[in-house]
Amino acid sequence: MTATATTATAATSVIGRPLPHESAALHVAGRAPYIDDLPELAGTLHGALLLSPIAHGRLLGVDKAALLARPGVVAVYVAADIPGTNDCGPVVHDDPLLADGALRHVGQPVALVVARTRDQARAACAQAGAAALRVERVGAPLLDARSAHAAGVHVLPSLRLARGDAAAARAAAPQRLQGTFSLGGQEQFYLEGQISYALPQEDGGMLVHCSTQHPSEMQHVVAHVLGLAAHRVQVQCRRMGGGFGGKESQSALFAGLAALAAADLQCPVKLRPDRDDDFAITGRRHGFEFDVDAGFDDEGRLQGVSVEMIANAGHSADLSAAVVSRALCHFDNAYWLGDVAMAGHMARTHTQSNTAFRGFGGPQGALAIEYLLDGIARRLGRDPLDVRRANFYGQPGEVDAQGRERCVTPYGQRVEDNIIDALVSDLEARSAYRARRAEIDAFNAGSPVLKRGLALTPVKFGISFNVAHLNQAGAQVHIYTDGSVLVNHGGTEMGQGLNTKVAMVVAEALGLPPQQVRCTATDTQKVANTSATAASTGADLNGKAAQAAALTLRGRLAAVAAAGWGVAPEAVRFADGRVTSACGTHARDFADLVNAAYLQRVQLWSDGFYATPGLHWDRTTLTGHPFYYYAWGAAVSEVLVDTLTGEHRLLRADLLHDVGASLNPALDIGQVEGAYIQGMGWLTMEELWWQPDDGSPAGQRHAGRLMTHAPSTYKIPTALDCPPQFHVALWDGRCGVDTVHRSKAVGEPPLLLGFSAFFAIRDAIAAAAGPGAVPPLRAPATPEAVLDALAALRVGTPLRHGDR
Ligand code: MTE
Ligand code: MOS
Repeated sequence: MTATATTATAATSVIGRPLPHESAALHVAGRAPYIDDLPELAGTLHGALLLSPIAHGRLLGVDKAALLARPGVVAVYVAADIPGTNDCGPVVHDDPLLADGALRHVGQPVALVVARTRDQARAACAQAGAAALRVERVGAPLLDARSAHAAGVHVLPSLRLARGDAAAARAAAPQRLQGTFSLGGQEQFYLEGQISYALPQEDGGMLVHCSTQHPSEMQHVVAHVLGLAAHRVQVQCRRMGGGFGGKESQSALFAGLAALAAADLQCPVKLRPDRDDDFAITGRRHGFEFDVDAGFDDEGRLQGVSVEMIANAGHSADLSAAVVSRALCHFDNAYWLGDVAMAGHMARTHTQSNTAFRGFGGPQGALAIEYLLDGIARRLGRDPLDVRRANFYGQPGEVDAQGRERCVTPYGQRVEDNIIDALVSDLEARSAYRARRAEIDAFNAGSPVLKRGLALTPVKFGISFNVAHLNQAGAQVHIYTDGSVLVNHGGTEMGQGLNTKVAMVVAEALGLPPQQVRCTATDTQKVANTSATAASTGADLNGKAAQAAALTLRGRLAAVAAAGWGVAPEAVRFADGRVTSACGTHARDFADLVNAAYLQRVQLWSDGFYATPGLHWDRTTLTGHPFYYYAWGAAVSEVLVDTLTGEHRLLRADLLHDVGASLNPALDIGQVEGAYIQGMGWLTMEELWWQPDDGSPAGQRHAGRLMTHAPSTYKIPTALDCPPQFHVALWDGRCGVDTVHRSKAVGEPPLLLGFSAFFAIRDAIAAAAGPGAVPPLRAPATPEAVLDALAALRVGTPLRHGDR
């Protein structure tokens, strides 16, 4: 290749450009249609769900006539009306769409009421629902994971992962720390709620527009509910107004029930619960309880760690086994654990069934070890960063005193692309961590009530689905005779910019300006048997599949050009919408070449397929090579805590995150910022609270009800919670394995950057308590949690537990 050609390629590369999201202009103008914006067909009916008022009971009957008598109501469905299977469990079939006798949580759907308008359907449920339902209480609901675990009530058998001899290593260690840690769940709070719009098709078929991360799974559920073959069911999703894991499996209930009514009535049926019902029906991030027991040396190096993790699975299995597996595989975070014993329990409670949420258990597992290391540092009177660093994974070849390689994870995968030490050092310098530590100490010495806190936390996150077969994707690329290109792939767009990235990859392969390539709605009739857009793998998998399709087409076009010019096909270049020969003597427009190829009857569309190489996983021993590579990052947060009120303010955050060679730095920085804020919100303000059966009047009336059921009572971060100083940077690197243009996944890993805000609060509490204090801070670190921690350390005013 000549020097000029090299320059030309570099100058026109689409990859790495900070292009706006493909729908940015439509988003801000309010013209990006979501499902409820689709024009409704004449005769469209609307569903509303009648929900269980009790958490633990039996359904004795539903008085359909009472509901049918309400204005506008045309049909009422209960479990017995489902022609196929009454189940939407993604893995284990324990998840009825409509209650089939047992009532398992407040908010469980019992009946579907269909009316002429949405308001009529909702009014029928609100006004006639209570009288129409005959239910019986069975007992007090189990609401917290610890009690359920203690009672031996689980959705699935526990998982265990161990290496070495944790107990022996701990016995030989100079120091020991034992403790418990309580970590709350988190509501996805997608802006567009769950919604499905089902349209009967000819000859018994069904089309469902569904806000979902997993169209193929929705296709299966609808097919099973209706008793149809998959080829009669089509599911489409152009975009979601956010999914965050909440639409990976749990969109199925809405798709299945909308389709049930649509099939029976042969009318289009839309099902869109309002926010309170969405909270009451669907699950969210699993809250976890941890028991940790660790030995360590005087530098804080871990010597034998045992951890019991009890996840609140809710009433059914859903994705809990995969979530808990990922929690176990991320307990190591960035740290080498020679001797470790972990157990993961999935407690069954009378609450919504918990599910995927950005990080999928990884954040919960990693937070536990961060809590431990932070505590060890405080016990030793060392800076937590030094203790963290002393435990970082080593480079391949580096061994410990017993000759064990310090780069092997507890599940047996070698960490070969470890950049954590360099990345953390870079961030330490950028954020002036040491100077600010000294400055904060000085401030705190002179400030008895307001205390500042600082923390740096690292991230290592494994990329790929733990289940090897899910790591596959397909795509189709069509070139039209005017040279415009249409792409369809199996991934879904939920705001993360997947379609923008995939279009850029295709544009790059064909040497086209990005606006010449468009992605269309995800559709089960275009690419079959897709995996969920999840585990952050969207761009890795679908980008590679679309690239493969585009490269096939480029090869065909190159052959046409080469034959015309009498040059070798390898000498044909595609850039800037032009096709040229390497020697520079021949050139034509891309569209012109496409048209010539069409006239020569060359196929101008292609499919592409990708399967991530080298993955294997033994789900019984929890060992193998589950991840293609790791994404790394680190964050520093600084907070100011008011020790009288327990409130805090986030003053500054510095983030440095590894996305390999960024496909699009504007989108990647958006993902990193958003994930940090979402992680920070989880750990500092988003609190879920179910009314306990405590004998109080409220307890008797509302036992098991999620009282934090809407933005009125569930607090998520707003723009005003962004730190006034917010420095976000991408690590300058390339992925060590062959990913699409050497980029790395970005969707979930940076959520763990939010840990630093939580540990900065713990740091401020420790400053209030004085040297050696190990604050017992639960997450989220709400003002109550902060005051409880201070009270436990005998600082400030004690708050009676349970005061609200
Ligand atoms: N970003 C936006 N704006 N909206 C979302 O719903 N979901 C997150 C993340 N970023 C989400 C998001 C989750 S849970 C995942 S798994 C990834 O995006 C999925 O998309 P990707 O694989 O294309 O990164
Ligand atoms: Mo993301 S929790 O894998 O949908």
